[in-house]
Amino acid sequence: MNPACPELSPFLLEAGLLDRAGALLSREGFGRCVLLTDQNVAQAWRPTLQAGLSPLRQDWIVLPAGEESKTLDRVREVYGRLLGLEVDRQTPILALGGGVVGDLAGFVAATWLRGVPFFQLPTTLVAMIDSAHGGKTGVDLPEGKNLVGAWHPARAIWADLRTLRTLPRREWAGGMVEALKVALLASGDLLAHLEILGQAPDPGLFPEPAIRELVLRAAGIKRAIVGRDPRESGERALLNLGHTLGHALESAGGYRGFTHGEAVGLGLLAALRLSGNRGLLAEASDLPGRVEALLAAWDLPRVLPGSLRWEVVAAGLRRDKKRRAGRLVFVLPVGLGRAEILEVEEAEVRQVFEELRASEGSLELG
Ligand SMILES: NC(=O)c1ccc[n+]([C@@H]2O[C@H](COP(=O)([O-])OP(=O)(O)OC[C@H]3O[C@@H](n4cnc5c(N)ncnc54)[C@H](O)[C@@H]3O)[C@@H](O)[C@H]2O)c1
Ligand SMILES: [Zn+2]
Repeated sequence: MNPACPELSPFLLEAGLLDRAGALLSREGFGRCVLLTDQNVAQAWRPTLQAGLSPLRQDWIVLPAGEESKTLDRVREVYGRLLGLEVDRQTPILALGGGVVGDLAGFVAATWLRGVPFFQLPTTLVAMIDSAHGGKTGVDLPEGKNLVGAWHPARAIWADLRTLRTLPRREWAGGMVEALKVALLASGDLLAHLEILGQAPDPGLFPEPAIRELVLRAAGIKRAIVGRDPRESGERALLNLGHTLGHALESAGGYRGFTHGEAVGLGLLAALRLSGNRGLLAEASDLPGRVEALLAAWDLPRVLPGSLRWEVVAAGLRRDKKRRAGRLVFVLPVGLGRAEILEVEEAEVRQVFEELRASEGSLELG
């Protein structure tokens, strides 16, 4: 742990880490652990990690895959299992999976016996570059996502690059959007790297060093921001780029329309258009086109369905946590690798919404 900033957990990124998990955990002083994962990840990677942890005592809890598992009901079930396993304060909880498993396991680790050690073993691009870092854990309520949670940084994050080999392309695309987000916030180099990968967007063919560079750069940007503003009192809110409209689009579709990545991709385009309309992109007027091309390469939508009603989206925007005194607050790009948190008028957002809307009847959902 970094005493100056506990939210910045030590981060190891290597192919083959799962094989060494037992040795790593022993070095941390633990002789037993509880693993939380989901069915998909268990099917692909449980045998590998099981062997890697041997001869440590290991107890596995496998949840159904998907956001539907990130609930208090599941948390309660897991508490029941921990009770049965007599899990004490010295037993760490390990999350093997994407952001859903990581958020839920982290919340369990934060609250079980008022807190037990926690390790993240992220297996999605989203988790490796985003959700495993920064100490936020939590679950959803029927009324909204991530409404209940706790700060509980991992003791360490061990990302085995091999696990990405089984990640479906659609999940890669979602991770690419989050990488694109941090590239827009802080790095023209990362954007160029994403564009090179986007020329042949078949993750199965990506060379390992290129994947490693992608994860290191994108995670590095998030970690730098978290390091400067661990508890989101200012700069960390920049990580909401694309998410203000993105969340409103997700909720407008009842979370069954757009995936998170699709919605945030559209949110990034909207933010760039808002900036462009305000004349903030003068030196980077090619950015919207570059972002659109990248979304297209990953088969992500670039236009809003004609059937989507502004009133429904506006209602979602009005529930945004960042609103100040009734005004909408957006993160807006102000050049390549730079963004600011700015108040915007609802009318400006509506204009961009109309610009992004496909003509009536043409549904281009990617
Ligand atoms: N805590 C944070 O700071 C933070 C940040 C961003 C996102 N999140 C949360 O993260 C969640 C999204 O995370 P996600 O995109 O990783 O989704 P996810 O955990 O649902 O994983 C996506 C899908 O991929 C499967 N999968 C995972 N790893 C795999 C692998 N290696 N091979 C094959 N299949 C695999 C999963 O079973 C699942 O079906 C959301 O709940 C979001 O709120 C949290
Ligand atoms: Zn996101």
